[in-house]
Amino acid sequence: MQLPEPLNRYQDIIPGLQEFADSLASPLKPFVRLNTLKAPEAAILHRLRGEGSRLKKTAIRWLYSIEQEQRLRSGTCYQLGYTYPQAITSALPVLALDIRPGQSVLDLCAAPGGKTTHMAQIMGDTGIVVANDRKHGRITALMANLKRLGITNTVVTNCRGEFLATGMLFNRVLVDAPCSGEGRYRLDKNGRLTHMKAGATDLPAIQKGLVQKGYDLLAPGGIMVYSTCTINPDENEAVINHLLRKRGAVLEPWQPPLAWHRGVTDWNGVEYDKNLRFCRRFYAHETGSVGFFLARIRKL
Ligand SMILES: C[S@@+](CC[C@H](N)C(=O)[O-])C[C@H]1O[C@@H](n2cnc3c(N)ncnc32)[C@H](O)[C@@H]1O
Repeated sequence: MQLPEPLNRYQDIIPGLQEFADSLASPLKPFVRLNTLKAPEAAILHRLRGEGSRLKKTAIRWLYSIEQEQRLRSGTCYQLGYTYPQAITSALPVLALDIRPGQSVLDLCAAPGGKTTHMAQIMGDTGIVVANDRKHGRITALMANLKRLGITNTVVTNCRGEFLATGMLFNRVLVDAPCSGEGRYRLDKNGRLTHMKAGATDLPAIQKGLVQKGYDLLAPGGIMVYSTCTINPDENEAVINHLLRKRGAVLEPWQPPLAWHRGVTDWNGVEYDKNLRFCRRFYAHETGSVGFFLARIRKL
């Protein structure tokens, strides 16, 4: 069976190839996170259902699948900051960080703030989150989301993450890196892939710089998560392999609440550190959401 280019090169990695290929033709399911910083979960559910939304609980706290996607970003619950529409897989890096109230957290590539706001919610708006992003235009969306969701524990910075100046080390670091976004690819009516990004940026070089900086800003004993929404091992396992060689980072296994697969330990004739199997891969046909990758790293 043939997948469309450029996904065809992943034939040996993707499990259940036929199901994966079939899933590319269906739209991604919408999910919504209920913001308990603004109102109790039951009250938000009551209001959403009163407005005609059909919601179904997922395996992840505060996350629901929802019908009527057209009202997700315009209804009163959205305007009041009761809801944050997101992919269910976007919750995974936040859960893998095992965040506690009162901690210090760095989100190196934060805009528009899906994961920043989720982390602040878990922290009960206590402690401190530093949310950074390189793109000024996306900072506007990040700040609007923080305001809409009523979050006050987050400081926003706008620079290249590789050059972030800070004298402080963080209990938790998230590097949700810029990537090719292959986990979002879909087929249109004419069988052409959509959501493809243009441009010839050397993404692995940027990702390696960001993950190294994130690790350097992590306090001893702290946890860092590196995540992307791409299938490409050059942007995933190879980046973490580079970090393991450059720093004494330790990869930790983690049990996700959604269907997952181990990280690959060789790709395109290159062998990676065997511990790369502790990375987690997620595919759209198994989760009904964006394809995803994450690595959980501990600084000893
Ligand atoms: C996958 S998106 C982040 C999504 C975000 N974490 C969320 O959950 O809403 C990657 C982000 O990295 C930012 N970015 C790209 N290069 C960067 C760099 N060198 N330093 C910091 N941010 C960067 C992009 O502007 C983009 O907002």
